[in-house]
Amino acid sequence: MSGQLTVPMPDRKALDITALRLEFPALGREVNGHGLVYLDSAATSQKPRRVIESLTRFYERHNANPHRGVHTLAEEATAAYEGARARVAAFVNAPAPEALVFTRNTTEALNLVAFSWAEANLRAGDEILVTGLEHHSNLLPWQRAAERSGAVLRVLPVEDSGALALDELEELVGGHTRLIAFSGMSNVLGTIVDPAPLVAAARQVGAVTVMDGAQSVPHLRTDFQALGVDFLAFSGHKMLGPTGVGALVARPELLEAMPPFLLGGGMVLDVGEQSAKWIEAPWKFEAGTPAVAEAVALGEAVAFIENLGWDRIQAHEESLVRYALDSFARMDGLRLLGPTEPERRGAVFSFELLDRAGGIVHPHDVAGYLDQLGVAIRAGHHCAKPLVRRFGAVALCRASFYLYNTEAEVDLLIEALQQTRKFFTGA
Ligand code: ALA
Repeated sequence: MSGQLTVPMPDRKALDITALRLEFPALGREVNGHGLVYLDSAATSQKPRRVIESLTRFYERHNANPHRGVHTLAEEATAAYEGARARVAAFVNAPAPEALVFTRNTTEALNLVAFSWAEANLRAGDEILVTGLEHHSNLLPWQRAAERSGAVLRVLPVEDSGALALDELEELVGGHTRLIAFSGMSNVLGTIVDPAPLVAAARQVGAVTVMDGAQSVPHLRTDFQALGVDFLAFSGHKMLGPTGVGALVARPELLEAMPPFLLGGGMVLDVGEQSAKWIEAPWKFEAGTPAVAEAVALGEAVAFIENLGWDRIQAHEESLVRYALDSFARMDGLRLLGPTEPERRGAVFSFELLDRAGGIVHPHDVAGYLDQLGVAIRAGHHCAKPLVRRFGAVALCRASFYLYNTEAEVDLLIEALQQTRKFFTGA
């Protein structure tokens, strides 16, 4: 018995990042003679071998069009596709698999709500509230919905700290508010948004809530039912899955009441020359052949994340955030945007590199120079022009981390930024 007690137990609390990285073929690449330091996961994450292989396996063995055949492969494809729906739905604690519509990505999911729900529910004089943190995909569809219906679009401002100005909620939400749309985590500032006050404000006036989970769902355990939002949109490719598949999760009664967004094959009960009847949700929203292999591979990505465990993933990312914040704070000539408290932000860091005259080194120059050193970041307006402008910039550098990144990569980024600044400013 005593011998058993001396056997060292693996530490279930910490991720083994060295072993984990071996699962991601792209992370082993060289770029411009350097080992790749991939810091652009907010744009798209890298994929583990298990996800890549599931795509190949589907095409090699089970490829067929789901819901459209009685032959064996069609039955297998249907089972795999619907199995993936159940897996992904459970991942975010949707009330049922049928509460999840597969879409192409977050953008398509948000557009679905903005066209379908808005068309049936918005009237002239109604109000839509979005926040100043939004990515264009959670702003432009609401601009369009307002234009089409005559509704008024209002914006909840962002404070200098990167937090939402929640004290303005009371003034901005009233009897005319029909919908509040917000992101769970800013793709620019990294701000983590607490949905609770927004959901509470919406409920008080009978408005619905739409959460853009593109950045939050890959990084934070998400419980759709506990959040109490009405709609949640997210993408597969930012959470280890393939491109081309995302999801809209919604309260089933809302989906049932909404008209379909796209019309075509696979979503009809009956069709006459002049009219048609739809099948039930979620299938009435999935006209045309869906991204079957991609949905199946997203199911694998979800299983991969669940196998690692949310506690370990979040602990790792929180510690990376603290380390990166300390490292950025110690560096001269760098202006970091977004919350400085680690618990209020995710691992997305937008910044400017300052020159000696108080100007900035153009973010595209920074990103280009870093690439020569094997460090991949994103530069530009990050599809959030009003937000970037709000902070007095036209473009920003952005380094974004995920579960496979390390503190050593933070050090490499800082060294590479110091070298970049020296090259462009002599500082
Ligand atoms: N929305 C993605 C980003 O922020 C593409 O980079």
